[in-house]
Amino acid sequence: MKRLDCIIRINKLEEVKAALEEAGIFGMSTETVRGHGRQLGRTELYRGSTYSVNLLPKARIEIVLKDDQVERAVEIICDAARTGEIGDGKIFISNVIDAVRIRTGERGDAAL
Ligand SMILES: Nc1ncnc2c1ncn2[C@@H]1O[C@H](COP(=O)(O)OP(=O)(O)OP(=O)(O)O)[C@@H](O)[C@H]1O
Ligand SMILES: [Mg+2]
Repeated sequence: MKRLDCIIRINKLEEVKAALEEAGIFGMSTETVRGHGRQLGRTELYRGSTYSVNLLPKARIEIVLKDDQVERAVEIICDAARTGEIGDGKIFISNVIDAVRIRTGERGDAAL
């Protein structure tokens, strides 16, 4: 299993979520974070104006997937989240050693 930590534009969250659901990927957690990439948030516009501080609001989506779903999910997320402008975000991929569905006790892939 792998975990995708996706940092995307807030106004792309609904589109990304809908595209993942359409592909049968349902389990996810989202939150709002503040961050910056290599431009340190300086040159990026947010809602039409330069943001007063350089930690810009972004949406973070965390998704744990079976290994064989990862490449497809990455492609779906990139397609839905890309504008081509700086600040489109990133996907960080890491290994997950196990998962548990609390209600049933299922483990691993079966718990997703
Ligand atoms: N190395 C990193 N580690 C953790 N979070 C990061 C990292 N790089 C970017 N982020 C997060 O992703 C958000 C978007 O980053 P961003 O897309 O601006 O990256 P970038 O490297 O500057 O690429 P670009 O040149 O396309 O803007 C940041 O606001 C931050 O929340
Ligand atoms: Mg950037």
